[in-house]
Formats: sequence, structure tokens, C-alpha cells
Amino acid sequence: MIEFLKRIKRSWVAGWQRWRMKREARRAFRFDARQFLDHAGALHLDRKAAACAEIVMGYHVLEKGLTMPHRRLGFGKGAVVHLINLIDAFERRFGVDPQVVHAIGVLRAYRELHRDWPEPMPRLDAFLAAHPDVPPANEPHLTRTDFFAAKDAPFPQFAASRHVVRHFAGPVPKETIEAAVSLALTAPSACNRQHARVHIIDDPALRDWLFAQQGGTRGFGADADKVLVVTSDLSAVRWGWERHDCYTNGGIFVMNLCYALHYYGVAHCILHWSVSPETDRAAHETLGIPANEAIVQVLACGIPPEEFDVAASPRRSIDEILTWHGRGEG
Ligand SMILES: Cc1cc2nc3c(=O)[nH]c(=O)nc-3n(C[C@H](O)[C@H](O)[C@H](O)COP(=O)(O)O)c2cc1C
Repeated sequence: MIEFLKRIKRSWVAGWQRWRMKREARRAFRFDARQFLDHAGALHLDRKAAACAEIVMGYHVLEKGLTMPHRRLGFGKGAVVHLINLIDAFERRFGVDPQVVHAIGVLRAYRELHRDWPEPMPRLDAFLAAHPDVPPANEPHLTRTDFFAAKDAPFPQFAASRHVVRHFAGPVPKETIEAAVSLALTAPSACNRQHARVHIIDDPALRDWLFAQQGGTRGFGADADKVLVVTSDLSAVRWGWERHDCYTNGGIFVMNLCYALHYYGVAHCILHWSVSPETDRAAHETLGIPANEAIVQVLACGIPPEEFDVAASPRRSIDEILTWHGRGEG
């Protein structure tokens, strides 16, 4: 009889916990939706930070074009005009910003690359003439040896030497991938629950299918030797307020994996997984990823060629991102 009552109590407690968790999760996701709609840049382009982010995206498209492996001159004409319009509007409204100055430098580098291009570019020429003090952006050209030279250097140099690479020329041995994933396991995770999982795609047909869904690898994806799909096991999530945990823990793992790949001499390009629910579901089915694993990130990788270009992707200054909330005395 006592055993029976204990069982009833246990099942009542479990049922109550499930109900509470579902209620928390619904509240949390409603809060996220509200916060997103109130603040996501795409819905508030009148804000300076959102307008600047749009310019960064605009120059990034051209920077990628300038450093792409199979570059064809004449690329990105629409992107150039779009970027000029964005910069004009930004400068009228908000004035100068270092990221906008870099955008102008990218436009000048684009023009210099098209020095002998037969078609006139009057809008671009007029724009650049109005910004005579901005030099062309410098997109680094590196040898493979130089790119990986900081492998054993102190962390500041090692971290500064990592870049995404969109040039792939050779296969990565299985053991190297395993060594990198093993090193990435040093990533911390909430209560050491180790949410991250890694799926390796080395079938070219699956790679091409995935990249067609993903949309961010035009001009270089077909050269990638392997694709690493990093997922997070939702089974490790314990309560509703942890709704972001699969992405925070997965993201920390991804960064560690990027450093690990760089350490082992593997070129990698991080790829977003900002896709529709239908695409996400199709990827799970096509790649055979269990439904309880959320796809966090995709990485294209390979061994780079002897020489290649990387995009400069300059960073904001520390004053732009650091806010002290105490006495600020350290
Ligand atoms: C979450 C995320 C998504 C990204 N998605 C893409 C992508 O779809 N295609 C691409 O070519 N690069 C992508 N990148 C690479 C970024 O463009 C790159 O990391 C950034 O410009 C900084 O350059 P760096 O990594 O060389 O320092 C992505 C990076 C991150 C972190």
C-alpha cells in the first residue's frame, strides 16, 4: 500500500514538473518573440546600429567577391550600387563610422581591381571622388605556411591568425578531423552536460544538397572536402528558461572547434544555419540527423592551396563594444 502511494506521488510530481516546464517554455518563447520583433535590425533599419549592420553585410558581400577562389571580373555590380546607396543614407543621417569607412575602402579596392574593366562605372567613380581620403581596403593574400605559422604561438597571435577560408584544394585526413573534434571537446558546457554533437558529411552529393539549402557557399562550396554539421542534443536541456542553451553551448563548442581545426592546419568556413523550419526538417531527414538534435552550425573545410586570399573583416574597437557597469576601475 505504501509502495503504491509512493508511486502515485512520484507520477504526480513528474506530471506537475512536465506541466511547469511546458508553461515556462511557452512564456520564454513568447518573451523571445516579443524581444525579437521589438529589436531585430531588419525591422528597425532607422536605428544607427541596424543601418550600420546592413552596410557591413553589404561590404562583406563584396569582400567575399574580392577574395573568392573562382573570381570573375564584373561581379557584384548590383551590390556596389546598393552599398553606395546605404552609405549615402547613413552618412546623411549618422555621419562617420569606422565600419562605414572600411566599406568605402572595399569599394575602392573593387574599383582598383576593375581598373581595366571596359564598362564605365560613373556612380562608383563619383562616389569615390567624394571620399578621396579613404584608401583601398587591404584583403590579405597569404601562403599556407604563413597562415598556419602561429600554430604554437601565444594565444593572442594564434587567435588573431584564425580566419575563415573559402579556398579548398585537398582532402582532410579522417584522423585530423577526429583530433580536432577531440580537442574541441575541451569546450565548457552548462553543468558539463556537453550538448554538442558533430556529423561529418564527406559525400559530395550530400554536401551539394546541403549547401544548396544553406545558400552561403556560392563560388567555393563545391571545393570543400568535408562538411561538419554541429548539433546540440536537446535531451541535455533541463528546464524552460534554458531554451537558448542548445545554441549557447553549441556555439561555444563551434568556436573551440574552429580553433582546433586551425591548430591542425585545416581551413574552415563557418556557415550560418538561418533556414526555414521546412529546410531544417529536410536536413534532418536527408542527412539522418536525429530529431532531438538542433542544428547549430555548419562548417565547410578542406586543406587550403599554397596561396590564397582572406577577407579583411575588420573588427570594431573595444570602446564600441565594452560597457563597464560598476566603478570601471578594474
Ligand atoms: C554564425 C556565422 C555564420 C556565417 N555564415 C557564413 C556563410 O553562410 N557563408 C560564408 O561564406 N561565411 C559565413 N560566415 C563567416 C563570416 O563571414 C566570417 O567569420 C566573418 O566575416 C569574420 O571573418 P573571420 O572569421 O575571417 O575573422 C559565418 C560566420 C558565422 C560566425
